[in-house]
Amino acid sequence: MSSEKRPTVLSGIQPSGRLTIGNYLGALKHWLGLHDRFDCYYMLVDLHAITVRQDRDALRERCHEFLALYIACGLDPAQNVLFVQSHVPQHAELAWVLNTYTQMGELNRMTQFKDKSAKHADNINAGLFTYPVLMAADILLYQADRVPVGDDQKQHLELTRDIAQRFNKVHGPVFTVPEPMIPPVGARIMGLQTPTAKMSKSGDAETDALYLLDPPEVVTRKVKRAVTDTDNAIGFDVAAKPGVSNLLSMLAALSGEAIPALVDRFEGKGYGHLKGEVAERVVALLTPIQTRYHEVRAAPDYLQQVLREGAQRAAGKAAITLDRVHDALGYIPR
Ligand code: TYM
Repeated sequence: MSSEKRPTVLSGIQPSGRLTIGNYLGALKHWLGLHDRFDCYYMLVDLHAITVRQDRDALRERCHEFLALYIACGLDPAQNVLFVQSHVPQHAELAWVLNTYTQMGELNRMTQFKDKSAKHADNINAGLFTYPVLMAADILLYQADRVPVGDDQKQHLELTRDIAQRFNKVHGPVFTVPEPMIPPVGARIMGLQTPTAKMSKSGDAETDALYLLDPPEVVTRKVKRAVTDTDNAIGFDVAAKPGVSNLLSMLAALSGEAIPALVDRFEGKGYGHLKGEVAERVVALLTPIQTRYHEVRAAPDYLQQVLREGAQRAAGKAAITLDRVHDALGYIPR
């Protein structure tokens, strides 16, 4: 047996709304295949989800839906630890400890907190404020070396690193300081109708997002109706041409072609050509995922089994870190 320790990757998605092509291109896609080099942990962060009110039945349903989509996208449960955050109590326990190593001023600066409190002004709860501390606990609990996420999570990752370094400075090297893995293209997919705002899984406008479970005709219709501009000249300029630039980013992320090469290839062509190719690529990506999704979703016992095993494997690793933290703090061992 090799004694070499494999580095760890961890990431997660909130089970809220519906998974979008943004979640796929910014995060999920980059989780695939990492198990060759890393120990991989991928969660559904249901503790985070309740910072915004959730319907009980819908939340449960959505966790199964998202898990089935993880698997349908290509995450094999035999090679990746797939689990639900609430099944591993150490997340909340470590979050409490880390709360005492986090400053109010740091949390006040988080843009996601500002955005979410503006959107849910009637429910600015303490959980929404301390959300990034729970996220730090998620990551540090598994001693994650790498965290593959989209661009909007960068600030939370920086805070996680600060908290880890602060704790280590007082107590010695308890935590691995994680590095974000943010893809060069696709890290920030914008809305189709509002290309100046991030595509969101819980947005209000149905036509703003491409959902992983959208049927092909819906994908095609939404892409065709995506907001562009009146130039009718294909070029990449996020400030001046946000809609067209977003379509180019999506196509680059979907095809692997570089954006300048795409701009050259589409020279002299109208927006209809670009939209046609984006829609085709999205449909080609989603069709096999949807077929597999329906198979997996029809096997609830299998999904439950995946979660049971995932929770067991995750909790094993989490318990080791939490014991080290308790020891560092001077808590009496049980
Ligand atoms: P969440 O659920 O909002 O998003 C899940 C992942 O998808 C990425 N993403 C996007 N990427 C590109 N374009 C977009 N429009 C887009 N929208 C979302 C996000 O960057 C993310 O990687 N706080 C996290 C969940 C979390 C987590 C963690 C992540 C909790 N604990 C520990 C990593 C490690 C969140 O709300 O992601």
